[in-house]
Amino acid sequence: MKLEMEDNKSSGKLITFCGLDGCGKTTQINKLEEWLTNEGYKVFLTKQPTDYVRKSEIFRNFSDSPDNSRFEYRALSLFCAADRLQHTRRVIKDKLEKGYIVICDRYFYSCLANLIARGYTDDVWIYEIAKSIIKPDVSFFLSLPVEKAIGRVRRRPEEKDRYINPDFQKRLHDLYIEIAQKNKGIIVSSLLSEETCFERIKFEVNRIVKK
Ligand SMILES: Nc1ncnc2c1ncn2[C@@H]1O[C@H](COP(=O)(O)OP(=O)(O)OP(=O)(O)O)[C@@H](O)[C@H]1O
Ligand SMILES: [Mg+2]
Repeated sequence: MKLEMEDNKSSGKLITFCGLDGCGKTTQINKLEEWLTNEGYKVFLTKQPTDYVRKSEIFRNFSDSPDNSRFEYRALSLFCAADRLQHTRRVIKDKLEKGYIVICDRYFYSCLANLIARGYTDDVWIYEIAKSIIKPDVSFFLSLPVEKAIGRVRRRPEEKDRYINPDFQKRLHDLYIEIAQKNKGIIVSSLLSEETCFERIKFEVNRIVKK
């Protein structure tokens, strides 16, 4: 199905980053925030889903455990979608109207990719909700082979034993690429050095902020 989103009509700009855990989103976001701030822009850094969802039992269960039998994935997906709707319209939109460059760590695309990766391929409601979500001025999708992404996550001491399903991560990765290709997202290979990735990101961001 076609993903239709609301155009950003505000003076501010919305930049989003999606991709597997460990693909380098935070690394690039921090560089971008520093660069834009030094260039004199007002920057607002945020993330989705919000901590309200992240701390919930249902979210933690699907993130941390192979046994999800107690929970219905669609319920989590709707919960995340509701959180993203609230956050996009009441937090991000407010900042965009005030002229900020908003950088969001993960975005609605993650909700869509996860839903499909879990096998819910015909759920129309997600596309209905998307119509009320602001379309980013530029959306980055960082691409990294699954084994490498898992390796980077596992290098964090607190996540060295975290449950990760490689097959699921592969489906998710491929869906991110598909969503990017269908929606004019910018795919950046995170196999490249942090600096080379950032040069690519800077180039695209310059195109939207210097308009
Ligand atoms: N281009 C790169 N080349 C090599 N290592 C990188 C690169 N980008 C990030 N890393 C390293 O990979 C690890 C994960 O990066 P980062 O925390 O930015 O990923 P993330 O996408 O934000 O992960 P999460 O989704 O779990 O928040 C870090 O140790 C970081 O230093
Ligand atoms: Mg991160």
